[in-house]
Amino acid sequence: MLFVGVDLGTSSVKLLLMDENGRILNIAVKEYPLYFPKTGWSEQNPDDWWNGFVSGMKELVSGFDPLDIKGISFGGQMHGLVILDEEDRVLRPAILWNDGRTQKECDYYNKTVGREKISEYTGNMAFTGFTAPKLLWLRENEPDVFARISKIMLPKDYLAYRLSGVHCTDVSDASGMLLFDVKNKRWSEEMCKLTGISVSQLARVYESYEPVGNVLPKIADELGISRDVKIVAGAGDNAAGAVGTGTLEHGMCSVSLGTSGTVFIAADSYAVDPANTMHTFAHANGKYHFLGCMLSAASSNKWWMDDIIGTKDYAAEQKNIKELGKNSVFYLPYLMGERTPHNNPNARGVFAGLSLDTTREDMTQAVMEGVSFALRDSLEIARSFGVEITRIRAIGGGAKSPLWCSILANVMNVKVDKINCEEGPGYGAAILAAVGCGVYSSVEEAASKFITVVDTVEQDEETVAEYEKRYQVFKSIYPALMPVFDKIVECE
Ligand code: XUL
Repeated sequence: MLFVGVDLGTSSVKLLLMDENGRILNIAVKEYPLYFPKTGWSEQNPDDWWNGFVSGMKELVSGFDPLDIKGISFGGQMHGLVILDEEDRVLRPAILWNDGRTQKECDYYNKTVGREKISEYTGNMAFTGFTAPKLLWLRENEPDVFARISKIMLPKDYLAYRLSGVHCTDVSDASGMLLFDVKNKRWSEEMCKLTGISVSQLARVYESYEPVGNVLPKIADELGISRDVKIVAGAGDNAAGAVGTGTLEHGMCSVSLGTSGTVFIAADSYAVDPANTMHTFAHANGKYHFLGCMLSAASSNKWWMDDIIGTKDYAAEQKNIKELGKNSVFYLPYLMGERTPHNNPNARGVFAGLSLDTTREDMTQAVMEGVSFALRDSLEIARSFGVEITRIRAIGGGAKSPLWCSILANVMNVKVDKINCEEGPGYGAAILAAVGCGVYSSVEEAASKFITVVDTVEQDEETVAEYEKRYQVFKSIYPALMPVFDKIVECE
């Protein structure tokens, strides 16, 4: 029996083929473009996702019998707005999770209606990346498009829809729309009313491990797979990634160094950060989680390496970095504004502390440190409301760097556990597919069979103390520059 896990990311779609024992047999990756029509805006074409998925499937199954595939599921970039008309045509490019155009709309929810009310309805407050503010923005700025919306969906749900014909979503991804009553796991009538939409435009909501239907016969024939293949709802990429790392027990924490950087904390029951700085979302195992999200994590490093230094050899650039906790260069990773903890789309990236003896290595190191400090901001919020975190599981492209894992361990003062599979959301999605097909009775059962810790990166007391001093400096830079960021944005 084979299962396909689809990680619909921001830079590429990654497909993973897994057998019923959790062994990864093949992986296919298809990249697609990301569009920035204006500074701080971020869009993608849903057809690019679909075409990437179809060509990825062909590559994935070559050398295997596609008729052995029993189920397909997803981990998808969250919050993106995909809208279809009556004829199921995509009405405009998807507006993504890291798009910052909706400050005015967020102010409407958080200030005019009031953060407490919004939090009562959804368990969260409004952030520019969330889905509902994008709908309000469309209503104001593209009223003709808004009037033609028949179906509202999230990125991975667009793939599920094309595959199964079922307009579906799952509890974890729905949680990030600001239209979902996370506590009671149902759409919020109040939020729909405030946003000018009706519940009938939204998808049916499933638990992440529930099958939504079978693949459509025409699509099955095109892909050469059985018409009995089950499409399983799947999860937002962070919840799917947590399944893929076995971050399921209450209080467990995983950190993702992907395009975004996230701190994910599993929780058995529903609870809300009193300040709403961290999100409260449903988990893919039927429970809940807290999430802190920074917008430019591994993407800060990619920008610095590819676009500024002009290299693809990240390991060679990191090779000469030896002294952790001594750098006097600081980097603020706010290239796309910032979500947790600042909730400010006008924030921008900064290098501070440069001198004539600053080296290229110092700046490379500062980028990894700045991202780690920014992730620590989320961790500190969780610690402030009583969550004790002493070890984390790290995933995402950035976590492949031993140096970055060591920086993370020392900046956060935690142990970083490396697990036997670093595929995060794609692996979690394949596990959800296996559970949805009834091969395992629960997400926990499958994860405990498949996932083990193979190595641990430990922190060192002296380095932790050095980083503690530097974290305090890092924290003081943003407030000092806050008024300047607004002026910079006026110049854009
Ligand atoms: C989470 C978030 C990001 C995206 C990236 O709230 O916005 O992690 O899901 O894919």
